[in-house]
Amino acid sequence: MRKIPVIIDCDPGHDDMVALILALGTPCLDVKLITNVAGNKVLSKVTNNTLNILNYCGAQVEVAAGARQPLVRGYQRTDTEGAHGLSGLDGFEFPVENPLRVSKRTALEAAADILKHSEEKITFICTGPLSNMGLLIRAYPDLCKEKIEQISLMGGTCHFILTKPFMEFNTYFDAEASKIVFESGIPVVMYGYDVTYKALFQEDFLDKLDRIGNQTGHMMAALLRKFMQLHNQVWLDLGGCPVHDACAVAGVIDRSIIRKSEKMYVEIMTEPGPLSGATVCDYEHRSRKPENAEVIFELDLEKFLHMILDAAGRLA
Ligand code: BDR
Ligand code: CA
Repeated sequence: MRKIPVIIDCDPGHDDMVALILALGTPCLDVKLITNVAGNKVLSKVTNNTLNILNYCGAQVEVAAGARQPLVRGYQRTDTEGAHGLSGLDGFEFPVENPLRVSKRTALEAAADILKHSEEKITFICTGPLSNMGLLIRAYPDLCKEKIEQISLMGGTCHFILTKPFMEFNTYFDAEASKIVFESGIPVVMYGYDVTYKALFQEDFLDKLDRIGNQTGHMMAALLRKFMQLHNQVWLDLGGCPVHDACAVAGVIDRSIIRKSEKMYVEIMTEPGPLSGATVCDYEHRSRKPENAEVIFELDLEKFLHMILDAAGRLA
């Protein structure tokens, strides 16, 4: 079986955790590297969360830490609870001892090295703010254009408006980096709130995770139970709970999961003010600017949830 080589850039996060498990437990993906970026919480916390997840599900992949803050702005988040809790991954006690360590290479060094030496094009899956991706493209524009197959990202929104916070977190958090990514000329596939708020799991999904009977399934059930409670209280209660970031992995594994998508020009607002970080999606093609992203609107939910259960069952 030909495996798809991927690099995952993330800020775990409960839904990043699901994205990681989905990628690591699916045989057709070859996860070459995991990079971390400050977002949901500060860099040290999201890196610690990544190492805990990998250790608990028995996966061994290089984890490299990247940007501590957005490219232009400071790290603006206070470490309040938010939708992911104080640790960034509340709801499960991981073992205190973890033999896994963060790489001596930075995210930028490791990602550039892998791109340089790869004979195949690499797919990037980005599930946090786009600071690392923006830096990589700025530092190695030609290498990125030549060697990156696509950037499958969770971020942005076209029609869906979440008023608390005002817009999608990942594109908002580092608007300047988001602009670099969308204007890079590299194929961008955008899994924004339009699709992720349709891909909701319910309580029965948590029972199914538990019933897998392995430690990965138990960990996921506990974490997602907490996330559902926090998310629906802090953000939005639509009668289920999203796992935003996992959508950006699912489409890489199996394109046929996508039920509706459209290519269009997406502009990232960077002017300071309330719209900074907004994704202005030209879905009526009025600007006549060339399409720079494929925006995903619908996916096959049943298949999506099955993929996650299958992947969890293949891990420890
Ligand atoms: C995004 O924000 C983060 O909290 C989630 O992990 C996801 O990447 C959703 O807006
Ligand atoms: Ca995330």
